Amino acid sequence: MRPAAPHSLLLSSLCLALCCLGGARGSRRSGNHEWKKLIMVHHWPVTVCKEVENDCRDPPDYWTIHGLWPDKAEECNGSWPFNLEEIKDLLPKMKMYWPDVIHPLNHSHFWKHEWEKHGTCAAQVDALNSQKKYFGGSLDLYQGLALNSMLQKLGIKPSINYYQISDIKDALAGIYGVIPKVQCLPPKQGEEVQTIGQIELCFTKELRLRNCTEPGEPGGAGGAGGPGLEVCEDGPAFYPPPQQTAP
Ligand SMILES: *[C@@H]1O[C@H](CO)[C@@H](O)[C@H](O)[C@H]1NC(C)=O
Ligand SMILES: *[C@@H]1O[C@H](CO)[C@@H](O)[C@H](O)[C@H]1NC(C)=O
Ligand SMILES: *[C@@H]1O[C@H](CO)[C@@H](O)[C@H](O)[C@H]1NC(C)=O
Repeated sequence: MRPAAPHSLLLSSLCLALCCLGGARGSRRSGNHEWKKLIMVHHWPVTVCKEVENDCRDPPDYWTIHGLWPDKAEECNGSWPFNLEEIKDLLPKMKMYWPDVIHPLNHSHFWKHEWEKHGTCAAQVDALNSQKKYFGGSLDLYQGLALNSMLQKLGIKPSINYYQISDIKDALAGIYGVIPKVQCLPPKQGEEVQTIGQIELCFTKELRLRNCTEPGEPGGAGGAGGPGLEVCEDGPAFYPPPQQTAP
């Protein structure tokens, strides 16, 4: 009378497996908001403009902040709205180092987005547990890293000649003592090579530099954080010079 038992057991273990998988994926957005590293994402404004096919006028000719992102959590507190007032003192630095490259007339949308999506999660760490501390702390990390002057010192400048991605990664690892992540726009039709877009350096919850990859994890895969960006392929890449402004 019960030949169905093994079958339903099979079904329920399958369901269990699927539910577990679904749960793991879902936890990114809801439920537990645990994360273990902070990613300082720098982007290259010329590439940001190219990515959205927007002819931004006079994008900065230095790497700016895209965001400071916890690795495995987003939108951790919907009842903590962005408040520009709180970061009033930081505005000169924010406009300089964390501009909305695409909408330079009003940076607030971008900052609001970064706060709601990433800042509310980063705020689990005491050192970043207010808007002033999150944005101020991010600016401090950015200035401490001094990526622009490091690249200059390494002789890595925007150029019509291509760079090898491994040379850039090795040079940065040599300077910072940790493995960075470099992201590119894949070549579009008619282009020979990928275009460098973002450089990530990672921090522990104690705000100390750490590898962006886990031990044993290859440099590949993982949150690209932009519509077209991917972890760069080994091989040549274009680091595009700022466009000439029309006279
Ligand atoms: C969300 O943010 C509000 C405002 O800062 C705070 O009162 C509340 O405790 C936070 N909720 C969680 C779950 O952290
Ligand atoms: C800029 O955007 C913010 C956030 O959406 C808005 O509150 C503010 O009024 C805008 N400022 C200007 C000058 O348009
Ligand atoms: C960082 O990566 C390097 C190279 O793979 C490795 O030798 C080092 O042990 C890593 N550091 C940590 C703390 O995992």
